[in-house]
Amino acid sequence: MALIEWTDDLSVGIEIADIHHKKLVSMINALHNAIIKGYSKKVMENILSALSVYTQKHFEYEEKLFETYNYPEYKEHKRQHDNLKKQVLEFNEEFNAGNTMLSIKLLDFLKSWLIQHIVKSDKKYAAFLNEKGVK
Ligand SMILES: [Fe+2]
Ligand SMILES: [Fe+2]
Repeated sequence: MALIEWTDDLSVGIEIADIHHKKLVSMINALHNAIIKGYSKKVMENILSALSVYTQKHFEYEEKLFETYNYPEYKEHKRQHDNLKKQVLEFNEEFNAGNTMLSIKLLDFLKSWLIQHIVKSDKKYAAFLNEKGVK
């Protein structure tokens, strides 16, 4: 079973954002799968680095929208993105340094971060943008 099941509760009502979020969910699930199947460190490294690149791109996409539409909570939202980016970098470093206990801690963290962030913060900007006609 996948670690995170995509349900419509996670949809924010902006098509591209939903596509990005689904991809992030599937990458976290891939990492989970790699861990439970005991795939090599190299495989996990690849997933982690792809996840970190994709996350970066997704955040840039959202932040660009905030700028374009003068989203009032831009700063607070970006702060959340920046914290996550910092965390992922730290995890990457620990992982590369051979911390084997990292994986489960990392997965729990990523799962709850992503779900909380989508449901609380992304839905908030999406509602604001929906009102401006962005779908
Ligand atoms: Fe966000
Ligand atoms: Fe997002």
